Amino acid sequence: MKKNIAVIPGDGIGPEVTAQSIKVLNAIAEHYGHEFNYTYCLMGAVAIDATGSALPPETIATCLESDAILVGAVGHPRYDKDPSAKIRPEQGLLGIRKVLQLYCNIRPLTIYPSLKHLSPLKESLLEGIDLVVYRELTGGIYFGEKYTSEDGLSAFDTNTYTVAEIERITHLAFKNAQVRRKKLTLVDKSNVLETCRLWRSVVQRIAPEYDDVATNYMYVDNAAMQLILNPKQFDVILAENMFGDIISGEAGVLGGSLGLAPSASVGNITSLFEPVHGSYPQATGKDIANPIGSILSAAMMLDYFHLFKEAKRVREAVSWTLNNKFVTKDIDPINFYFTSTLGELIADYVGHRITDEVNHENIELRKSTVI
Ligand code: IPM
Ligand code: MG
Repeated sequence: MKKNIAVIPGDGIGPEVTAQSIKVLNAIAEHYGHEFNYTYCLMGAVAIDATGSALPPETIATCLESDAILVGAVGHPRYDKDPSAKIRPEQGLLGIRKVLQLYCNIRPLTIYPSLKHLSPLKESLLEGIDLVVYRELTGGIYFGEKYTSEDGLSAFDTNTYTVAEIERITHLAFKNAQVRRKKLTLVDKSNVLETCRLWRSVVQRIAPEYDDVATNYMYVDNAAMQLILNPKQFDVILAENMFGDIISGEAGVLGGSLGLAPSASVGNITSLFEPVHGSYPQATGKDIANPIGSILSAAMMLDYFHLFKEAKRVREAVSWTLNNKFVTKDIDPINFYFTSTLGELIADYVGHRITDEVNHENIELRKSTVI
């Protein structure tokens, strides 16, 4: 199979983690006989520095021609400290989501047994967790009309949704629930918000088309509580843009490190794959960031290409590293491996260049030393 992939390394640790995904994708291509061509593009703070825009037109053009897009991260502390900045790195990410209509953001949560001790939850609560968040990504308060009064004393953001916007992601979420544990929970605030009442009515109307799926409805404040009280009750969580951002962030840390969480943003023309973590400026250039969120996003890309056995191989390689304690500093601050080393290990495993009978001594040589 031949695929053209737009690669947007972005800011902070984005380039470092993305480089590891490319190693893994190359190992897949070589071992399974595929051809992946990469075109690198600018977005975020690096794009602002180079072109004055967070999302240059060439980036949009390349993405539109690509079969998929791999993003690292965007964001820079320079802009976080200045709320009045007119041009911000995040505009790149929000812009590409909107322009390419990447309306369905999928964020699965996997619990790895060897990392249970890092979870903020008691081990007993982790048993049986298997959930995925379907977050609407191109509507809602993120993209509604915004305003700040001239005197700076008031401001508003508008939350709007159309039935068509709700329908398209709802169908995808139900279809996924059908092949998972057949449960869908709509997270909303329909006791207060008009837009959420629209969401609920649309989901209620569509639910009978998927009568093998049990549909339930939960207010977002309760959902935030239930995620830490009894997370295994969830299968597919469906949410509008902002609630989905918050709930998926909360879900993302339950496994022990946000560094592991991948995502796919699906559109009609192309789709984008990116780790849930941000640009993590403090770790930039230190080779300590966790590349697994990006590598698992690349696995979601392989699924999207219908390369299912290849995607499975990548996930097996990730489990293998974690089980063997080949982990980055976020997971083990004392005995850790560098970002680049972990990328090589996963790529080597994917390409059958190392086996389960791992030669620990050789790999030990690649370990960091903390003095
Ligand atoms: C996310 C991030 C983004 C969002 C930011 C960086 C704009 O938090 O992808 O979850 O809010 O969507
Ligand atoms: Mg977020």
